[in-house]
Amino acid sequence: MSKYKSLLAIILIFLAGCYEKKVDDLMWLSDDRDSAFIQIERHLRGFDLAMKEVGERYYNIFSAVNDDNWGYAIYNLTKLKTAIVNGLERRPNRKLSAQSFLNYSIPALMKTLKSKERENFLNEFELFKQSCNNCHISEKVEYVNVILPQLHSSMVGRQ
Ligand code: HEC
Repeated sequence: MSKYKSLLAIILIFLAGCYEKKVDDLMWLSDDRDSAFIQIERHLRGFDLAMKEVGERYYNIFSAVNDDNWGYAIYNLTKLKTAIVNGLERRPNRKLSAQSFLNYSIPALMKTLKSKERENFLNEFELFKQSCNNCHISEKVEYVNVILPQLHSSMVGRQ
């Protein structure tokens, strides 16, 4: 029995050693669990970082259609939606202003992209742009005035 106890003690000391080592390896995250969660939340940021991604994907959709790369346009619209949905999880007080964008604007543009109808695309993209700005107005950031992208070379081109 005492043999068993000392083996157990050795295992516990070993595990404690492993845990401490892990904490030692942390570069900036607090070794206090609660403070660490608060730090992680702060570093993941709120809606601004989501919008940086949305802005880039908005541009990518326009540029992909210009390159006839409808698959890449659809891919970007899907990720744009993910960025907004995740952003709303972080800032739920913005949900109400995003409702028509999520329920109407994204599905409408998706339909146009899937149909590959270039003639409808410009009209639909114009409406999409307006719905970005409608939300900016309701969220009191009207100075973020989204315009139609000015095309220059993208990192991804024709397929
Ligand atoms: C929920 C409503 C909402 C929708 C929908 C929305 N935005 Fe925003 N957007 C915001 C808010 C709020 C901010 C300011 C974020 C902050 O201050 O934290 C913002 C900021 C931005 C910024 C500035 C980001 C920065 O930090 O430089 C860009 C670019 C942007 N939005 C683009 C778009 C585009 C493009 C669309 C449409 C495809 C769009 N947004 C749709 C609410 C929205």
